[in-house]
Amino acid sequence: MTRTPVVVLISGTGSNLAALLAAAAEEACPYEVVAVLADREASGLEHARAAGIPTEVVALRDHPDRAAWDRALTAAVAAHDPRLVVLAGFMKLVGPRCSSPSAAGSSTPTPPCSPAFPGAHGVRDALAHGVKVTGRSVIEVDAGVDTGRILAQRAVDVLEEDTEEALHERIKAVERPLLVEVVRRLTAAR
Ligand code: GAR
Repeated sequence: MTRTPVVVLISGTGSNLAALLAAAAEEACPYEVVAVLADREASGLEHARAAGIPTEVVALRDHPDRAAWDRALTAAVAAHDPRLVVLAGFMKLVGPRCSSPSAAGSSTPTPPCSPAFPGAHGVRDALAHGVKVTGRSVIEVDAGVDTGRILAQRAVDVLEEDTEEALHERIKAVERPLLVEVVRRLTAAR
């Protein structure tokens, strides 16, 4: 079976990446992770290295400006010729060529439940607002901050005693299988 090549972009601990890799190790999985790129020396890169998958860090500070960084990231992605780019906790906006669904569809798990509370501190913002239900969306990446079309969504109850950390951990437990499900669906169709 020919598997659909996927490039994953990360910035953090890579728990979503680990879930994607675990699913990819199953025989019937429709995708293969061909490279993992990061915008910093993210600890999550270890998951890829342990699996023998090529990694690369394309850091903003190594480029004269954001446009140059974006060109370098796009070239690094294109070098692996993916059919899908998955932003799995990648904490920077990417340019249109990197996220264009016609070139390579992209999806990202966004906390806590797009389109509410976009950005890097969605869980904190949701708690501060006092919402009782939040959740996780996987979206198609566009030029905005968590504004893309929603591909899948799950709800997570907010508990009275929740801290940002505790709530985010429960959200991440929902997010991992949701992201894998969406990536399986998208790659099976390509
Ligand atoms: C995940 O919870 C992901 O949803 C979030 O960063 C975390 C990364 O965790 N992404 C965003 O906030 C994107 N807007 P991980 O490095 O353990 O996968």
